[in-house]
Amino acid sequence: MLTEDKILEALKDVKDPEINQSLVELNMIRDVQVNGDIVSLTVVLTIPGCPLKAKIEEDVVNKVKALGAKEVHVTFGSMTDEERAKLSAKLRGQRRGDAPKSQKLLSPMLAEDSPTQFIAVASGKGGVGKSTITVNLAVALARKGKRVGIIDADIYGFSVPDMMGVDQRPTVIDKTILPVERYGVKIISMGFFVQENAPVIWRGPMLGKMLRNFFTEVHWDEMDYMLIDLPPGTGDMALDVHQLIPKSKEIIVTTPHPTAAFVAARAGAMALHTNHEILGVVENMAYYECSDCGHKDYIFGQGGGEKLAKELKTTLLAQIPLGVPDHDISDPDASPSVYAADSRTGKIYDHLADEVLDRCPQPVMG
Ligand SMILES: Nc1ncnc2c1ncn2[C@@H]1O[C@H](COP(=O)(O)OP(=O)(O)OP(=O)(O)O)[C@@H](O)[C@H]1O
Ligand SMILES: [Mg+2]
Repeated sequence: MLTEDKILEALKDVKDPEINQSLVELNMIRDVQVNGDIVSLTVVLTIPGCPLKAKIEEDVVNKVKALGAKEVHVTFGSMTDEERAKLSAKLRGQRRGDAPKSQKLLSPMLAEDSPTQFIAVASGKGGVGKSTITVNLAVALARKGKRVGIIDADIYGFSVPDMMGVDQRPTVIDKTILPVERYGVKIISMGFFVQENAPVIWRGPMLGKMLRNFFTEVHWDEMDYMLIDLPPGTGDMALDVHQLIPKSKEIIVTTPHPTAAFVAARAGAMALHTNHEILGVVENMAYYECSDCGHKDYIFGQGGGEKLAKELKTTLLAQIPLGVPDHDISDPDASPSVYAADSRTGKIYDHLADEVLDRCPQPVMG
């Protein structure tokens, strides 16, 4: 026989997709009423317009039907400001963990022994493809089942949301921001917090503060890999990232021209100077491959990636050809900069992800 207790017990397995905790533990299931095999209940959402309402409803209905209910009626409500503040405080407490105060950690993810691997994507100059590579490497890792996040640390020149086709804003519960998820990757970007593509006009100290906020205010959950899309060059933000995340490893991006590699070497030198391990070099826009005959033209020169890898005593991890993703722009699952898994470039990113997993495995916890 169906009872309220049984239903609540079963719903313990259903998680809020954004917070990744049980709806029951979050006290989001209320007013359960059972009438024979007809069940009605209320789901109290964190915010009224919760973008994942349909998913939550489906999960709840399926779970209760699996217990034998014929009909399940779900009514939606939303938390009061007071309830949201309480939840936000609870999530903050969990984020801080039990780390000793002396460590002044912004997030348990940053603890030396946390299993989360940080990988910053850097270059000496702009426009070489850092963001494209961050996004596609993240998607490739997520396709392999990893829990992946992106911090778009390019506060002025944010581009990750657009590249991934995200037009949604993050859910904010009181003072806690939930990252937006796309292709299984959780994303946080300054782009979510500016109006209508307005320019960001902050000075240095504010930039560092924003980066900190991306840890202190954001509920990241447990992550396997966090990718950090850096702004170009070796400026303030790159330095902040180096200081804030000393355990971060780096991928250096260059184009194939030998002079580009020379400029990129500065980003590499900075990584070495600050004791960040360099995972390797990615050469982007390496060649143009004719789609008819397969002939490769090295229109931007050749050898830059290899030269840079040698100079930094590391490996050339991948050479990515020229060409934007070719897919139907009306396809809602497609986005401007994400290559399909089975495309030529998609497969190169899949291979790059394998290289990264090899060189940067998750620690075995025990
Ligand atoms: N392999 C490629 N083939 C064709 N276009 C590419 C390729 N990689 C990147 N691009 C395009 O080049 C431009 C610059 O790329 P991207 O924004 O990724 O570089 P970036 O290094 O992050 O730039 P910034 O320094 O401004 O942050 C974008 O328009 C992107 O779509
Ligand atoms: Mg960029």
